[in-house]
Amino acid sequence: MTAGKARGRFIAFEGGEGAGKSTQARLLAEALQARGLDIVITREPGGTAGAEALRALLLDPAYDWGPKSEALLFAAARSDHVEHLIEPALAAGKWVICDRFVDSSRAYQGGAGGIGDADVLTLHRIGSGGLLPDLTILIELHAGEAALRARARDGDAADRIGGKHADYHSAVRDRFALLADQSPDRFARIAGTGSAQDVHARIMAALTPLLDAP
Ligand code: TYD
Repeated sequence: MTAGKARGRFIAFEGGEGAGKSTQARLLAEALQARGLDIVITREPGGTAGAEALRALLLDPAYDWGPKSEALLFAAARSDHVEHLIEPALAAGKWVICDRFVDSSRAYQGGAGGIGDADVLTLHRIGSGGLLPDLTILIELHAGEAALRARARDGDAADRIGGKHADYHSAVRDRFALLADQSPDRFARIAGTGSAQDVHARIMAALTPLLDAP
């Protein structure tokens, strides 16, 4: 720990495919940098060399991972990411903005994949000491618009998980909403409709308590 430096804040972006998380993570990073904060922007699965190698395996349609192997691999990737990038950055007083974190495993593997929340949280405790973001920004978009946007972005080249059936993605969306309902203090639910700047303005408003905190 850097002497005298307050721990940084950890903000995660979550949502289904095509919700606009990556764009919003970038816009937020720019806005916070402009306020003089030291920002690290990263993503999951990935963020470190080891986790990016696991990402390539996880998203490659050549492999037929089931929800249990997915949960283990995502937890392993996250463990490396937390140990080598996220925790050191927070300890050095930086703000970490992460495109997806453990709530993705809870929604995709735990919810849509059916392995259950308790097992995902156990893996997270083993792998990453149960670390949770200070704020999780859930960008919500209804199914039709999300599918259109994902298709405009990916065409026929959706990755192994993005390319799953519409029912799977609808279960993901429902589980995210449930998780946010269960932990209203940790989640900010943001409507993903309108322009990127509209959504960004909603996110900045949701961040006010964190920015004003000592
Ligand atoms: P990515 O290209 O980052 O998707 P997106 O742009 O939609 O965020 O690919 C990540 C994929 O992995 C995405 O389909 C969600 C999935 N995923 C899980 O299933 N579990 C997880 O824990 C994480 C982090 C991602």
